[in-house]
This record gives sequence, structure tokens and C-alpha cells, in this order.
Amino acid sequence: MLLRSLAISLGACLALASNAMAQAPIIIKFSHVVASDTPKGKGAERFKELAEKMTTGRVKVELYPNSTLYKDKEEMEALQLGAVQMLAPSLAKFGPLGVKEFEVFDLPYMFPGKDVLYRVTEGPIGKDLFKKLETKGITGLAFWDNGFKVMSANKPLLVPADFKGQKMRIQSSKVLDAQMRALGANPQVMAFSEVYQALQTGVVDGTENPPSNVYTQKMHEVQKNLTVSNHGYLGYAVIVNKKFWDGLPADIRTQLEAAMKDATKYSNAIAQQENDQALELIRKSGKTAIHVLTDKEKAEWRKVLVPVQKDMEGRIGKELIAAVNKESAALGYK
Ligand code: LMR
Repeated sequence: MLLRSLAISLGACLALASNAMAQAPIIIKFSHVVASDTPKGKGAERFKELAEKMTTGRVKVELYPNSTLYKDKEEMEALQLGAVQMLAPSLAKFGPLGVKEFEVFDLPYMFPGKDVLYRVTEGPIGKDLFKKLETKGITGLAFWDNGFKVMSANKPLLVPADFKGQKMRIQSSKVLDAQMRALGANPQVMAFSEVYQALQTGVVDGTENPPSNVYTQKMHEVQKNLTVSNHGYLGYAVIVNKKFWDGLPADIRTQLEAAMKDATKYSNAIAQQENDQALELIRKSGKTAIHVLTDKEKAEWRKVLVPVQKDMEGRIGKELIAAVNKESAALGYK
């Protein structure tokens, strides 16, 4: 009799446990390095909201913004190890992974407009780039937009000669290294989370980023001058650990793809206004002199920077650069 009641209570415990296990949500740790009130930060929040709703709570997304869990380089390693499941690194940060083709997005003046950019990211070129991540144990889910970059420093940067000897922080991209050297500056790769302090202490003299990052990291408070150059682009690839993604139940994966699609639409739709508002807030702060280049000055920048596209053919691939230029031509750009 005792044995029988023991067996019944053991069975009940196991049933409870398995039921609890069955209820335990799938956790997606989503780490990124920017502030929450940025296009990427808001896109991540929208994805969390939609993913948890569409999976009716079977998935829980834990957001770790502003390098709170991992800094730049660490986060890519953490993803490959499966310590986090999702990231949205800048397209300028895939070179160290061995996928240098992503640096096509860093080439100066490569995208004459966002329409060209979206044709690239939403078309065959974007798909081919994501395919290159698979052998690294990474699945690309979406491209998220941020915007065209401005330059900042403690001296006005109006013509290339102004960059001479300036220590300029860059992301881990050989194209950005070549860009700064073409301007006569001294590029310094540094994690995004360290930039504010490096500018404040003079470890570096200046940097580049879209206004939304400049403002939300308060870089304008430690940079006396900002040039609205729009010389290059900064965007993101939303990526997941491939083993985790392939291991999800098919219905959950489909729901997460739908959540990502809507979050991408949202994040890309707000990107331009977020950057326009950030630039206006920087202007209103009065802490930074904002310079808009004259046509003559723009021509001087282009003269020095456009040749970087050719110089980088060996690294990025002549065909890939030609394919992007073909998309521009298809939209009527010269
Ligand atoms: C940077 O490191 O400057 C940017 O990639 C930060 C970001 O993710 O927007």
C-alpha cells in the first residue's frame, strides 16, 4: 500500500515538474551597445514586445542595451558561444569575424540615398551577405537602418587638411581605417562604450557616427565641433546564434520571423526622424558648433574619399562594389 502511494506521489511530482518545464519560456538574450532611445534600441524593444505577444509568452526576450551585458568585440564572441542568442552589431563590425564583405557599407559615398541602401539590404546582395555568416554559426535575420554619419572633433573639420594628425575613433573596419588615413587622420579602433571617456580625456580627438549616437552618448558635450558631412553610412545586421535558431520549434521560428519583420519596418521607419531630432537637440544644447559643408568643401571631401572605394576592391570584392553601384544606376543615380 505504502509503495503504491509513494509511486502515485512521485508520478504527481514528475507530472508537475514536466508541466512546469513545458511552461518555461524560451529565453532570447538580446545584447546591443547603444542607448535604448535610438533607432536600434527602439527596434529591439519593439521586437521584444512583438515576439512575446506573437508567441503568446512561449518566448521571453531579455534586452541588454548600452553594453550593459557585453561590449563590442565581446558580444560577437558571446553570440558564437551561445551565451547570448541575438545581437544587432553595426555592419562595420563583421571584418574581425572574417566576413569583410560587410565593409562595403562603410565605403565613403557608396550610397547616394537610402533608396539604394534598401535595394541592397532587401535584395539579393543582402541575402548573399547573410549566407556568408552561416559558416560562422550565425544566422542573419534583418538589416536595420540608422543613418548617414557626421564627423566631430574639438576643432572645425571643414576640409580634409583639417584632419591632419587628428586621432579619430573608428569601429573595427579596415575600410574606416582607410577612410581616416585618406583624410590624413590617425584612426584608432575602440569599443563604442569607451568613446565618450576617450573623447573627454583626449585619448582621441574626434569620431564619426550618426547624430542619434552622438546625442544619446552625450558625445556633443565633449566635442566642440560637429560637421554634417554624411560621408558614410551606419546600419546594422540583426543576427542570431544559428544552433539556437535552428533548434527552435518551427511554429515559434515562424512567429519570431513575423515579429522581426514588423520590428524591422518600425525601426527603419523611425531612423531618419530619430537622427534629425538628435541633430536638432545637439544644436539646441549649444555645446557644439554645427558646420554644414559648402559645395566646394563637399567636393574636396569627395575628391579625397571616393578613391577609397577603388583602394578597397581587393578587400571587399570588385564584383560586390560593382553590384551596389548597379543598384544606384538602376535608380537613376550617376
Ligand atoms: C559604433 O560602434 O560607433 C556603432 O556601431 C554603435 C552602434 O551600434 O550604433
